Amino acid sequence: MKTYLVTGGSGFIGSNFVRQMLQNDTNCHIVNLDKLTYAGNPANLVDIEMDERYSFVHGDICDTDVVRQIFHQHKPQIIINFAAETHVDRSIGSPDDFIKTDVFGVFTLLEASKEFGVDLFLQISTDEVYGSIAEGSFCEGDPLLPSSPYSASKAGGDRLAYSYYVTYNLPVIITRASNNYGPFQYPEKLISLFVTNALEDRDLPVYGDGKNVRDWLYVSDHCSAVHFIIENGKLGEVYNVGGGNELQNIHITHQILEQLGKSADLIKFVEDRKGHDLRYSLDCSKLNQLGWMPEHSFDEALAETIHWYQSNEAWWAPIKSGEFKEYYKSHYNMAYEGE
Ligand code: NAD
Ligand code: TYD
Repeated sequence: MKTYLVTGGSGFIGSNFVRQMLQNDTNCHIVNLDKLTYAGNPANLVDIEMDERYSFVHGDICDTDVVRQIFHQHKPQIIINFAAETHVDRSIGSPDDFIKTDVFGVFTLLEASKEFGVDLFLQISTDEVYGSIAEGSFCEGDPLLPSSPYSASKAGGDRLAYSYYVTYNLPVIITRASNNYGPFQYPEKLISLFVTNALEDRDLPVYGDGKNVRDWLYVSDHCSAVHFIIENGKLGEVYNVGGGNELQNIHITHQILEQLGKSADLIKFVEDRKGHDLRYSLDCSKLNQLGWMPEHSFDEALAETIHWYQSNEAWWAPIKSGEFKEYYKSHYNMAYEGE
């Protein structure tokens, strides 16, 4: 039996990964270390919390004592670090926690992995570390030019993990995925925010002219890629993980409104994000040649995602009427309807 330490397992991608892993591997034990920040939600894993293959530890990846205690007690062989501060807009307003978690937190996990020994340390990085590219696509060996406090701190964690491979021979692999969407995404990112706003007949705040391009990856495809890389990835390597769906924000906005039968009048063009990256694009041939491809088409997976938010208002409505409301008002300077 393999023991996995999954950090940030109560967030969006981490919770999808934990659920998928428990479905696919009957003989594993997963320890989820999560600080439960605003983005971490125990409701994301309520269906599996009693599974005897699953343990939850409420704690901070920056806390050496907590991290060492987990290694001592559970002796995990595989570490998958999803834990991070993840929202670009929040990193612009308040970078502190990004530097702590996305750099120092990675250091703490790497140190414990070095001390106790592991079979694999998988650092979940992001395509944003490359920065923006007007034409063509980034390969894994291209220089990093991150431009937000989020992407810069993720680049720090990414390269720190690599340095432990080169310097200490720690078995490290790094993945750089594109924009994820799907169930359980905190409703502050483009698709989760716009779907839930449209369901509530609120405006959809499109930054700038809406022509920025992102590549979209369905979360279950990201999870299957992580699983595949654990099994087949080569130590010391970086793998780009993309969905092959480059789209302008405004295109996605119209697609959401059309599927929900809502008026385009809900679109509100607002002030552009500071330092807004124009386009992200990944060359994923390295991972594709190793044998992994995404399974979901964007149109089908977006439809499934929209359907999930329609059917799970009980999950997102309390979030949006809770502390998120204050963030929304201060960030967008937009009142909530009816207030
Ligand atoms: P998320 O914001 O939904 O969840 C992050 C989780 O980490 C939360 O459960 C939170 O409580 C936890 N966390 C934060 N700080 C912590 C700390 N100090 N100690 C322990 N736990 C802590 O994020 P997500 O969208 O699921 O992203 C997961 C990972 O994937 C991140 O590393 C992110 O950089 C990376 N990634 C995300 C995307 C995307 O589109 N969402 C794309 C590529 C890569
Ligand atoms: P986001 O989901 O925050 O992901 P990232 O910035 O990490 O790529 O944003 C995706 C794109 O959508 C990005 O170009 C910014 C844009 N966007 C808006 O236009 N309005 C919004 O309210 C948000 C959250 C994002």
